[in-house]
Amino acid sequence: MKANKFYITTPIYYVNDQPHIGHAYTTILADVLSRYHRAGGQEVFFLTGLDEHGQKVQQAAEERGISPKEHCDEMAPRFLQLWEKLHIRNDDFIRTTETRHKKVVQSVLDKVYAAGDIYFDEYSGHYCVGCERFYTEKELEDGKCPQHQRELKLITEKNYFFKMSRYQQQLIDYIHEHPDFLQPTHRRNEILGFLRQPLGDLCISRPKSRLSWGIELPFDKEYVTYVWFDALLNYITAPGYGSDEQAFKKWWPVDIHLIGKDILMTHAIYWPTMLMSAGIDLPRTIFAHGWWLSGESKMSKSLGNVVDPLALIDQYGVDPVRYYLMREMVLGQDANFTMESFIKRYNSDLANDFGNLLSRVSRLIERNFDGVLPDPGTVTDAERKIREDALNMFVKVQELINALRVNEAIEETMQFIRGVNRYMEQQAPWKLVKSDLAAAGRVLYTAAEALRIGALLLQPVMPNRTKTVLEILGAENTGSTWGALKPGTVLRKHTPLFPRIEVPKHVNKKQTKTKPDTDVNVITYDEFKKIELRTAEVLAAEKVAGADRLLKLQIRVGEEQRQLVAGIAEYYRPEELIGKMIVIVANLKPAKIRGIESNGMLLAAKKGEKLTLVTVDKSSIESGAGIY
Ligand code: ME8
Ligand code: MG
Repeated sequence: MKANKFYITTPIYYVNDQPHIGHAYTTILADVLSRYHRAGGQEVFFLTGLDEHGQKVQQAAEERGISPKEHCDEMAPRFLQLWEKLHIRNDDFIRTTETRHKKVVQSVLDKVYAAGDIYFDEYSGHYCVGCERFYTEKELEDGKCPQHQRELKLITEKNYFFKMSRYQQQLIDYIHEHPDFLQPTHRRNEILGFLRQPLGDLCISRPKSRLSWGIELPFDKEYVTYVWFDALLNYITAPGYGSDEQAFKKWWPVDIHLIGKDILMTHAIYWPTMLMSAGIDLPRTIFAHGWWLSGESKMSKSLGNVVDPLALIDQYGVDPVRYYLMREMVLGQDANFTMESFIKRYNSDLANDFGNLLSRVSRLIERNFDGVLPDPGTVTDAERKIREDALNMFVKVQELINALRVNEAIEETMQFIRGVNRYMEQQAPWKLVKSDLAAAGRVLYTAAEALRIGALLLQPVMPNRTKTVLEILGAENTGSTWGALKPGTVLRKHTPLFPRIEVPKHVNKKQTKTKPDTDVNVITYDEFKKIELRTAEVLAAEKVAGADRLLKLQIRVGEEQRQLVAGIAEYYRPEELIGKMIVIVANLKPAKIRGIESNGMLLAAKKGEKLTLVTVDKSSIESGAGIY
């Protein structure tokens, strides 16, 4: 049986930077899961918050010439405003500078100390402020932090250490005995792989002389607590550890810690061993999702590579942005954020499938039934089928949500909606109204009821627009049982729910030739990467006998010599080409053109009657160079 409570957390975000799309993503995901679980009747505790201590934050404040506390107090409202804008319904918001949290950190430190798991020692290591952790010589890449690619300083100092190594075997056993503990499986394997090496101990203090912005160690006033030891404990502070035993017993262990894969190590190794030492139960599930990428880089404010997806909210509304983020990412894998895929997703799923069903149903009821929801009358097999699909979909969506397969849960609902659109086309109520008004009423009632169920199931993802749908149908407080719509209800008039996003004309025109049913000819970066473009030097060129348009070229691509046939004889004389550094598609399957072997394709710019070869500056680069 499933417990009647659901406790879910996001990472607590660093306040050294502005909130960005990555933070928004994890928080929306937690919000969506919370809403599904609430709708399923569970009591939910959804926690998010801010990580305010540590060197990163101290430095950010120093750069601005203000105190760390002032800096944090200025940043916190920016996160809160974004959560409001994104319609996040969290139950608590924790800041690590709060008194309730300091108390917990100090009491856990005391406990771990009393357990004999903390010792004092001299240490040298390479410290990365970006990661807020030490790296060993072995872990560095060319002397640089493997995450941030910056040179790290060697620091030698006396510090307190947590005997993490003592819990290595216990942790390995725990992971084996609890298959759901670390997800997805490839992350679990990564951690088990890491644990094959001996686990070191964890430096958990910073001398105040180097860093003062932290929580003081209860057993040594010259030191503050390491930021990760501090931050992870937020997850037990909020549900009442040490302050409200009853509440803590109710919520702990947490059901899901949602994190990005960047902080897997700290959550899957530091955190459980800390809990073991303090005698606290371990989390049920730690789920590490992938990254939103822009091109090949992880999206974040500090990299400055942001399309600012948050600006999309102002333009298209919060629901489409939530929908896109949830539908587009396969949980556990990386995803690429592009404007093109956003528009495509919006137009196909929201404007075409969902929005269109609503406008068809309400328009037909408006015109033929004076805007009053007709009676279903006696149903046929077609209606029974829709009702059965609704039931199946409902069960499936719940299973998928419990398995953290959010994108599939959404797709399941959209497939149901598409099925209802097909039912409309098959039944053609716009024709039926002329011959059999009762039959038309039956179809329109059924479609409206199916739309209501679809809206209910999409509510966690798009809380606002689905509310509008339910209001239009006069079904604000209805449940998931089939048949809740009341015949005789006057439907509310409305504007289009998801007006189509029109894409620029030139993109459209090209599109109609190749793929008429989509909006833009979008490819992913991975698809683009498949095309290998290289520079090539033309060594020789001659006309192809019997073909006025073709030239046969001998080219050099790095070490390799190739032959290529191109239709450029009307634009270039053979001798003009020799010595040019052109660009070719190097991994095109070789073909025979007029019986002549052609290995590659050259690039040219063409407009109307004009054509010119794409060339690169020969004095700056040799042949065989890749083009990106
Ligand atoms: O690591 N794609 O905070 P942080 C997807 N304070 N998710 C992303 C992302 C991206 N491109 N970029 C960031 C910290 N995230 C610590 C956590 S917890 C006890 C302490 C999300 O501000 C993702 O959830 O660097 C990632 O794990 C988190 O933001 C990192 O936020
Ligand atoms: Mg980070």
